[in-house]
Amino acid sequence: MKKIKKIINKKNKSKIVCLTAYSKNIAEEVDKHVDIVLVGDSLGSVLYNYKTTRKVGLKEMINHSKSVRLGVKKSLMVVDMPYKTYDTKTLALKNAKKVLKETKCDAVKLEGGRKIIKQIKFLIKNKIPVMGHIGLLPQSVKGKFKSKGKNDKEIKQLIDDANLLEKNGVFSIVLECVKTQIAKKITQNLNIPTIGIGSSVHCDGQVLVTDDLLGLNETKIKFVKRFLNIRKYINMGLKKYASEVRSKKYPSKKHSY
Ligand code: KIV
Repeated sequence: MKKIKKIINKKNKSKIVCLTAYSKNIAEEVDKHVDIVLVGDSLGSVLYNYKTTRKVGLKEMINHSKSVRLGVKKSLMVVDMPYKTYDTKTLALKNAKKVLKETKCDAVKLEGGRKIIKQIKFLIKNKIPVMGHIGLLPQSVKGKFKSKGKNDKEIKQLIDDANLLEKNGVFSIVLECVKTQIAKKITQNLNIPTIGIGSSVHCDGQVLVTDDLLGLNETKIKFVKRFLNIRKYINMGLKKYASEVRSKKYPSKKHSY
């Protein structure tokens, strides 16, 4: 709870930094730089080439989260509840309890607003911290990914959902691909922080998929900025190893028993 309060207290003071991690070694490095580490179900497309996150199961999420837990020391750790694991409030509670117990994470994230408000309410009533997620919802998309907040109906739904989520106790809300002015308005309206992804600088924080920003995962999504070409460095190391094995430079006596 202390970590969650710390996140909420950042609102209007300093930006919240959030990134994904799917395993221990990356989590260790991510943890040094962020406030929130998210085990996102984006791991389905990033690691397993699934066409949609709908194919990601609870077992996969728990296994990756267990590994991430080993690397996260200081940040708040949030785990995505995968598709179909929170269809009813009792199912949501059963699965969220399992996720918390087995992964020792701090909170879970669920996609949706009013459609899943019963589940969110029930989790919070049972003392499970919840992060909301509105705007583009990858678990619900059929077909192309499109930005949200383009017409009056969408704008009203986004604003209503954000208010409803706050009223029911989520500690922050991810805004995915929400039009700049709407993300700004929602952020200004709420007392809890918004974490944007493709939703402009006006959000209280930002989240990206770590593999995307490091250039480990190839993607052409508009909101992704590639901050590093890590594959270049990986290839430098691997090339050197292969060359030394072939030239018998490695292993030398130093590396042999
Ligand atoms: O699955 C994920 O990684 C996410 C974020 C990118 C918001 O939900």
